Amino acid sequence: MKNKNNNKNIGHYFEGTDAQWYKGRELTNEEREVFKQRSVKSHQAKIKALNGEGITPIHPINSPKLNPEDLMPKLKPNHLKVLSLFSGGGGLDLGFDHAGFQHYQSYEIIRDAAVTIMQNRPQWNVFYGDDGNVKNKNWSFLKNQIDVIHGGPPCQPFSIAGHQNGGEDDRDLFPEFIRAILAIEPTAFVAENVKALRNKKFKGYLNQKIIAPLSQNYKILIFELSAASFGVPQKRDRIFIVGLKKDQVSKQFIIPKPTHNFAHLLPSKNNYNSKQLSLFHSFSSENQDHNLLKCMGVRQALGLPNIGYDALSPTIRSGLTGPRHTTSILSSSSAKKQWEQLEIWPNGVAKNRLNAHKFVAKNRHFRLSVQDCAIIQGFPESWLFNGAVYMILGQVGNSVPPPMAYHVAKALLQTLI
Ligand SMILES: C[S@@+](CC[C@H](N)C(=O)[O-])C[C@H]1O[C@@H](n2cnc3c(N)ncnc32)[C@H](O)[C@@H]1O
Repeated sequence: MKNKNNNKNIGHYFEGTDAQWYKGRELTNEEREVFKQRSVKSHQAKIKALNGEGITPIHPINSPKLNPEDLMPKLKPNHLKVLSLFSGGGGLDLGFDHAGFQHYQSYEIIRDAAVTIMQNRPQWNVFYGDDGNVKNKNWSFLKNQIDVIHGGPPCQPFSIAGHQNGGEDDRDLFPEFIRAILAIEPTAFVAENVKALRNKKFKGYLNQKIIAPLSQNYKILIFELSAASFGVPQKRDRIFIVGLKKDQVSKQFIIPKPTHNFAHLLPSKNNYNSKQLSLFHSFSSENQDHNLLKCMGVRQALGLPNIGYDALSPTIRSGLTGPRHTTSILSSSSAKKQWEQLEIWPNGVAKNRLNAHKFVAKNRHFRLSVQDCAIIQGFPESWLFNGAVYMILGQVGNSVPPPMAYHVAKALLQTLI
């Protein structure tokens, strides 16, 4: 990692890129000192624990019950050529792959994330660093060569966790996604982003900057999905924008139907105030079809003992956002409460299950490993992530849960064939 401007400490940059969009907010000297002290202390405790000098381990090494492969049975390869933009660690890519699409090229600015995809799919063409930067790329060489473009432009400009400056935020890369579509003219496209993009605040942005430039040639559908509706044991709602070329596609796109119900995993109303409960509003059990498979709770999915309580994992946060890189997946104070009830410790995620077992958490709850976090996001264990822990958590927390991506891809396939 390279900080191009050490004097000003304006944030983090990634080797070989100008990925300034990840820069955290400025820290005061006091804040920086607090973070430093905390991290030194926790590092020392970890080293002691890994050397067998810590508290005697309490939790056996877990053996997960959920295999996300089961949530996205592989479809036979089809002939449709896909271009992946902002590929990250490959959540959307993996979902489309399982639905049988052929990845032609993938573009991602961060090398570690691109290496994740390359090591799992060595035969793919993955570009990273300056070559993977979609900004100002001339796409004319791909004109009419691609069936589907998919991508999740960075969500920071719209996310409720940020300043929500939308198009004013220089990290807004939706215009680049749209530029690629207009230049390449694929038969269809799929964009994914945070629900907040549909808020009143961004209505003008959505209509003028996204829908207007594309609607001349594309029929556009915007819809919201919950990851748990597809068996992913996490509260994660996202919007998808699907476009179908008017002169090439006559079939209707059918929004994927839930395969799982998760009414039994809703948080208990008694434990939350109305503000916290409003965060779960999309969890209302009204739309839950009780004939569907039951989504596993996070404890069950990770193979943890029954404590008489289970629930969806709170939305996991990307390790690359916030004031500094982190190995915590904690996203809010209500999430903290939920993790406590689940008796799971969401901070200091370990590199592997053995380390998690050895390094007993402060409150004695179960410590997560990156492999566990990947399962909570719907990645099969066979999908190996590259990079340091914070970087892997960044890729995981930024991704589209692959089973969710798979069902969108499958619905698209049914429209295109
Ligand atoms: C929301 S994540 C995408 C996650 C991905 N769709 C998935 O499902 O795993 C956005 C990604 O865009 C990448 N990115 C940001 N700026 C970029 C640029 N100029 N060119 C290419 N990729 C960029 C980030 O590094 C990040 O991995």
